[in-house]
Amino acid sequence: MVGQLIRGRRATRAFLPDPVPEDTMEAAFALAGAAPSNSNAQPWRVEVVSGAARDRLAEAVKTAHRTGRRTADFPYSEAIYSTVHQRRRAAAGAALYGALGIDRDAHELRAAYDASSLGFYEAPHVALLFAPDSGDPRLTADVGMYAQTLLLSLAAHGVASCPQGLLSFYADTVRETLGLTGGKLLFGIAFGYADPGAAVNAVAVGREPLGETTRFHR
Ligand SMILES: Cc1cc2nc3c(=O)[nH]c(=O)nc-3n(C[C@H](O)[C@H](O)[C@H](O)COP(=O)(O)O)c2cc1C
Repeated sequence: MVGQLIRGRRATRAFLPDPVPEDTMEAAFALAGAAPSNSNAQPWRVEVVSGAARDRLAEAVKTAHRTGRRTADFPYSEAIYSTVHQRRRAAAGAALYGALGIDRDAHELRAAYDASSLGFYEAPHVALLFAPDSGDPRLTADVGMYAQTLLLSLAAHGVASCPQGLLSFYADTVRETLGLTGGKLLFGIAFGYADPGAAVNAVAVGREPLGETTRFHR
């Protein structure tokens, strides 16, 4: 049962326009709040955006992307990934762009697809996850705990989702558009009902064998 839930959740990149009913959304986010955290501090802040506000945010973020206004709260560099991480990333990219019919070397097409994803893959809702201003790694990890709990909670409610780290590059734009102060934007999560006919939603990326990541000491 729990295995089905965990393995059944997938990053979904094509959504139906139908909104998630308010009571389903509230139930899913309330359950996600049961996530554990250091000393139960629950240091996440979550902004759930729908309707006209969602459309405004998508436009603002796309404009920021087009005009090169990148304002990430958490610094990013390709160098954070080791060789083995890069190998896994490349395999996931090949599966995704392969399903979209985009060649490995078609950099412009890939970039255009990524830019269009700033419309939240047409999902009717997006949740923005903020860590505290300190950006402390322990507290930020708590937000990650919350995020996975939220993804599973949404899945349990029949709601599909896609975490979008790309949104974190436009943190000032997100804050300005939503009228927020403070907080460090970790990533967004597009969510709604999956488009069952979209080939991209059939992409399934594997995982490393257990021994690659986990050792048991006895
Ligand atoms: C923190 C985080 C950020 C992510 N950012 C993006 C993103 O910007 N765009 C995207 O299409 N997928 C994004 N993903 C989805 C991952 O590519 C996906 O989870 C991974 O390939 C494993 O696939 P699965 O979720 O279907 O099991 C992100 C996932 C996580 C956890």
